[in-house]
Amino acid sequence: MLDFRFDNKTEIIFGKNTENQVGTETRKYGKKVLLHYGGGSIKKIGLYDRIIASLKDAHVDYVELGGVKPNPRLSLVQEGIDLCKKHHIDFILAVGGGSVIDSAKAIAMGVLYDGDVWDFFSGKGQIEAALPIGVVLTIPAAGSETSAGTVITNEEGWYKRPTGSLLLRPKFAIMNPEITYTLPAYQTSCGSVDIMAHVMERYFTNTQHVDLTDRLSEATLKTMIHNVPKVLRQPEDYHARAEIMWASTVAHNDLLGTGRQSDWASHDIEHEISGIYDIAHGAGLAIVFPAWMKYCLKHNPNKLVQFAVRVWDVDYLPEDHEGVALEGIRRFEAFLKSIDMPIRLSDADIPEDRIEEMATKAVGDGTMGSYVPLNKEAIIDILQLAK
Ligand code: NZQ
Ligand code: ZN
Repeated sequence: MLDFRFDNKTEIIFGKNTENQVGTETRKYGKKVLLHYGGGSIKKIGLYDRIIASLKDAHVDYVELGGVKPNPRLSLVQEGIDLCKKHHIDFILAVGGGSVIDSAKAIAMGVLYDGDVWDFFSGKGQIEAALPIGVVLTIPAAGSETSAGTVITNEEGWYKRPTGSLLLRPKFAIMNPEITYTLPAYQTSCGSVDIMAHVMERYFTNTQHVDLTDRLSEATLKTMIHNVPKVLRQPEDYHARAEIMWASTVAHNDLLGTGRQSDWASHDIEHEISGIYDIAHGAGLAIVFPAWMKYCLKHNPNKLVQFAVRVWDVDYLPEDHEGVALEGIRRFEAFLKSIDMPIRLSDADIPEDRIEEMATKAVGDGTMGSYVPLNKEAIIDILQLAK
């Protein structure tokens, strides 16, 4: 196990009707708030009215900015920064999923920075300050409710890039599983794949003696495999929704990454796909991850064998590591198909003509990932395997 520091101070307020506490929680940090949300689902499901009522009860003054799109855009972030400066905002409340939360984080650091907020994503700027933010989560997926990261798409060139700082961790995350009953099946599945991917990016490592985090990761994956089909059959299954919602946080609050090197190549490859083709992040991961596994099988099969045996209950055969690992990948793909996810570029109508461009944008002349370090040619091979 590697040495580590673990710091996650986001307060989780979990359970039925917890959104009604948003006013009093917000009041602890801010007097004038930016209420940030997406394309309107929160109004359709009645959540918006409850949030407004709670803010008013707590005498919190607010300004609104809706319209965050999935794969959140830099132009709206810039609009949010101007709005916050104009109204002397001191706290940002994100009501939505990863896209809304990430947009809120980018606004939070842009308000206190004199230069262009894109500097933080292009590597030119160092994050030194950010407004505090709070979250009411509406979709379990990205884990942004307690993560230190944000991912924004710059419409100029369609670059989708991450950045992060402990300063971006939300002060609180309110999580009521009932709010997720209205998620379309497709969004439930996309979010679930993202949760599993956050576990797997950490699980596939060459760091030795990480038994606790291996087994916590396997338990999280098995919880997802067990509960996702349940909520697809019965969207109002509170306890299954609750398991998935808590898993979204556990998968990405950094606990499962403690003491080990993580990989993240599949995420970086996926960001090129959703950056150009604007598909849901989870759907992109369902396409990339199995192909990445098939590529890694030739170079580093060890953890793939453990994944097959412990997560997918494949019988261990000491004389046939490759066969065991392949059966694990096959069962993973069958699971993804059973929850209606695309598992090939062609399933998502993505043509093959920009594979080289995506690989170049992802890695240039360098490498990415650590379980198997990948150069541009390797990424092209993976995207070819995903055709
Ligand atoms: O926009 P609205 O109308 O609200 O609809 C949303 C959106 O269309 C809808 N939705 C959300 N909650 C709902 C609902 N519909 C009905 N009922 C509800 N309760 O779901 C759609 C997807 O929302 P979005 O926020 O885009 O989903 P997600 O949470 O998956 O976020 C995806 C973004 O997060 C980034 C991804 O790259 C992507 O841009 N990520 C952020 C990370 C982080 N900050 O740590 C890590 C992740 O790996 C990921 O990269
Ligand atoms: Zn993700």
